[in-house]
Amino acid sequence: MIRLTVNGVEHTLDVEGDTPLLWVVRDVLGLKGSKFGCGAGLCGACTMHLNGQPIRTCIMPLSAVAGQNITTIEGLSPANATPQQLTPIQQAWLELNVPQCGYCQSGQIMAATALLASNPNPSDADIDNAMSGNICRCGTYPRIRSAIHKAAGMMSAVSHPQAARNGELFSEVTLPQATNSEELSHG
Ligand code: FES
Ligand code: FES
Repeated sequence: MIRLTVNGVEHTLDVEGDTPLLWVVRDVLGLKGSKFGCGAGLCGACTMHLNGQPIRTCIMPLSAVAGQNITTIEGLSPANATPQQLTPIQQAWLELNVPQCGYCQSGQIMAATALLASNPNPSDADIDNAMSGNICRCGTYPRIRSAIHKAAGMMSAVSHPQAARNGELFSEVTLPQATNSEELSHG
């Protein structure tokens, strides 16, 4: 038996220790937002957080993360969240219509979330460096970069209410009515 906490819920799992974490999360726990892409640690589609740090879960054996805290895309915001309950990164993703086919996007959001947690005001170079391991076959990189900057601005406004009061940072955030927010939180 291996214990693991996923999105704040503790699980005791009867699974072989060499099973990749991605398989456990998707097939045992039923959380399908994290995607299988390359299976070799090269594309980032399977990105989750281990104690807040992004990891490639397709090559991470369950035994290596036993007893630790895992966060998946489903853990960033409540199930069936309203747009306002999404994280600033998820809101910025919606506002700028970042996804195309969407397959890579949960990994992109997890990587971006970890980036802004460690660097609240990243430069273009910081973003490109932090996100370089997350591949998008649809080429959404310019929108990803813009959305990270937008989310950084939204988070800064929350930290600095005076900036928010001048209306500049939030005035552009009008979420599209037709967009299903579950696409960004549950893949
Ligand atoms: S599926 Fe894990 S890095 Fe590609
Ligand atoms: S949106 Fe299609 S792979 Fe990134």
